[in-house]
Amino acid sequence: MHAASPAARAALGRVLVSAERIAARMPELAREIVAWVGDGEDEVVIVPVMTGAFIFAADLVRHMPVRMRITLATVSSYPGASTTSQGVRPVGNLPARLDGRRVLIVDDILDSGKTLAFLRKEFAGQRPSKLATAVLLRKTTPVAMGTPCEFVGFDIPDEFVVGCGLDYDGCFRNLPDVRVLHPEGAPA
Ligand code: IMP
Ligand code: MG
Repeated sequence: MHAASPAARAALGRVLVSAERIAARMPELAREIVAWVGDGEDEVVIVPVMTGAFIFAADLVRHMPVRMRITLATVSSYPGASTTSQGVRPVGNLPARLDGRRVLIVDDILDSGKTLAFLRKEFAGQRPSKLATAVLLRKTTPVAMGTPCEFVGFDIPDEFVVGCGLDYDGCFRNLPDVRVLHPEGAPA
């Protein structure tokens, strides 16, 4: 038998962004990104940040009628059941040979900004012709609002959220809505 995990003790709270609002926002956001991409001979390189961005990226790219390659980047910043950033480190190799390419980093949420700052610095060093970031969610904290990010799906209050790719202790990524999570099981 497994002992009850942190995820099992957690309680789901209110819906912050519904699946319907997310679905409606995807084509709008994709249009903004396609306009930024512009014309070019080479394929655009889309870099979804694993694991949280997998659902957002899958939704977004299907509204982007441009020639693209999709190369995953895996970083770790919230190991296990922690809810505050513990520092960013790459897991495995990061995308390479981005010189002269149009590169879009896609992440689930902009919170402390450490993940995006780390990846932008890594990729900028490879001299892409264009480099931008798209996030599904951005917390309305001064640090998140002050972090460079060209494309934002939704601004949300500073709460710990799960769903639409975002997890707590590895769980809840499959929820269609973005919801507040109470780690210690407080009432919703
Ligand atoms: P940042 O580096 O603090 O901006 O956060 C980046 C990563 O932390 C995101 O890609 C998420 O995986 C995770 N994260 C930040 N805030 C939350 C949250 O509210 N819920 C779940 N994961 C989060
Ligand atoms: Mg993540």
